[in-house]
Amino acid sequence: MPRYRDELSHLRDRRGTRGPFFGADYNPEQWPRDVHAEDLDLMDRAHIDFVTVGVFSWARLEPEPGRFDLEWLDLVLGDLHSRGISVDLALPVASPPPWLGVLHPDSLPRTRSGTTLWWGSRNQFNPSSPAYREAARRITEVLVDRYAGHPAVAMWHVGNEYGQLSHDEHTARAFRTWLRRRYGDIDALNQAWGTTVWSLWLRDFEDVIPPRDTPYLVNPALELDFARFVSDELLDCYLELARIIRGTDPDALVTTNFMGFFPLADYGGWMDHVDVVADDHYTDPADPATRLTASLTHSYLRTLGRARSWVLMEQAAGAVNWRPHNVPKTAAQNRLDSWRAHAHGADAISYFQFRQAASGPEAFHSALVPHAGADTARYRAVVELGRELATSSLAGQAPGSSRVFFVHDWESWRAGTGRGRVTDALDPIAQNEAYYAPFFHAGQKVDIGPSTLLTDQAEPSGTAPETPYDLVVLPHQFLLRPELVTALEQFVRRGGQLLIGPHSGVVDQHVRAHLGGTGGGLLELAGIFREEPWPLAAPVAAAGIDDASMQVHSFVEVLRTTTAQARCSLTEGPLAGRPLITRRELGEGAVWYVGGLLEQGALQAVISAVAAGSGIDLAPLPDEVELIRRGDWVIALNHGRESARVRLGGRDIEVAGEDLVIRREPR
Ligand code: GAL
Repeated sequence: MPRYRDELSHLRDRRGTRGPFFGADYNPEQWPRDVHAEDLDLMDRAHIDFVTVGVFSWARLEPEPGRFDLEWLDLVLGDLHSRGISVDLALPVASPPPWLGVLHPDSLPRTRSGTTLWWGSRNQFNPSSPAYREAARRITEVLVDRYAGHPAVAMWHVGNEYGQLSHDEHTARAFRTWLRRRYGDIDALNQAWGTTVWSLWLRDFEDVIPPRDTPYLVNPALELDFARFVSDELLDCYLELARIIRGTDPDALVTTNFMGFFPLADYGGWMDHVDVVADDHYTDPADPATRLTASLTHSYLRTLGRARSWVLMEQAAGAVNWRPHNVPKTAAQNRLDSWRAHAHGADAISYFQFRQAASGPEAFHSALVPHAGADTARYRAVVELGRELATSSLAGQAPGSSRVFFVHDWESWRAGTGRGRVTDALDPIAQNEAYYAPFFHAGQKVDIGPSTLLTDQAEPSGTAPETPYDLVVLPHQFLLRPELVTALEQFVRRGGQLLIGPHSGVVDQHVRAHLGGTGGGLLELAGIFREEPWPLAAPVAAAGIDDASMQVHSFVEVLRTTTAQARCSLTEGPLAGRPLITRRELGEGAVWYVGGLLEQGALQAVISAVAAGSGIDLAPLPDEVELIRRGDWVIALNHGRESARVRLGGRDIEVAGEDLVIRREPR
């Protein structure tokens, strides 16, 4: 069992500064030495004390296979150390030099259609290629030999945003090995994948191939197992290199940067392998909904990190260059974004990147120091932010957890977004956000993570220990494992409120339908029976809680109650009279089920009623205001231009437009 020590706080305390680390990706290999000297001064002025070095420097470190040039990195690390700047040293394995592809074309990934992805950009590696793996080990060994224990190196950053995949023959072999381990024999695999359908029956593991271009829909169990394999294979790439670091320096902090809700890696399976959780998050300043997404994503990171502090490894200070239209952040937006992450538990606030690239594909991506240099509003705002964060009182506080837990199972998301579904209108991530919205607008913190955080603590007798939660929300549990039902039932009987969103309990872990209308036991727990799903041609009316009428759009389910009571039913269309929202009292608690896509106002009302059952008040804050609690502190961010009034620490407080207020509010 891993020890959940707050490594980042430990590192921060050792440094003896109050605020979070503040920093950026630093790519000195793109610049001559005289610029490095200026960089150090500009870092000093901006209170920068944390930089990630070397992420894309493989070709500079190993210009030819086996010939290493590390002197420049010695100088860079020495310089940074002389200024007291901690280095998050990258293993540059995310982007191999062209020579690897020249010597080993099989190190290049292949798409589903067999197209090779060539060098000329970045990330052109095949995680299952022996040549790539060997080259990655070799550069790692060289860097670890030279820099383990270096006084500048505070942390190791393995690869970058692991998310590559290939469909080639190396991958096919590795996938078969993975399947053999998982299923033991081919009959078990045939059974799990339902290969009697469309004559996919496999004689042997050798008949298996990764998903490739096919005439029509691919078997969903094959797709899901391949997705699981890809995540495990990437984790294996990370672990292989992490082991090299830990083998030389057992106390080293090792991490890699996650990407929030990311489809190619199941971070629920990764979270215990990083010493510090790190994430990259790029808000869209042109879209106000970006705040909710950021808040939920940060909550996910905090939950994956088991409520320890985490690293916001990358964000943009201004504009990115990968949206069709790249509106820059204002200085105020950048400041509020950073404080949001810090309030959610990030104790390193870092950016991509320190100095804006002068050439290459990211020349139009913002940085802390823009093309125009330091005599700019952008850099001056960074200096201000660095100074302000350095005095933060939040960093000493445990990020903490919530009384509310949202289940986000990556495998359910992946299974729920394949082709051949009942509707595209049901998107698991959109459902997470819709169910989170009332909490976000009320400044109520939630935890969100894999259901294993609820079930893994189950004792051998099958009884789960008491969870710290009062309310559990399953916005869209398309794929349901039976052990979750057992844990949820105990949770409810002991007084928990459980809220379940539509189209839940539909398939098992092999994407096989749960038969018999009980949703794999989940609907039985909810006290209802489901006859079939029903995508809607047009919105229909429903009436319910307090006779209020509401619209349900795009999707409903054909339900009937068994032991639950209908709280809201459809009032028109072919399903008029069918229950839409139900509630079942069970033991000391209750289970709510929402069998359709509600307009947001109606969903807000339902969720408020459920939360009230747990004594949680979801009264909305003024528009544009975000409220986040961390330890004894509460922070209010006002994104609007006008000032707003909020109640903090029992008093009404004015928060100026595009500003923030932090108050102590002992619990
Ligand atoms: C990230 C990546 C960085 C940089 C950034 C630009 O995905 O890790 O290296 O490319 O995007 O937004």
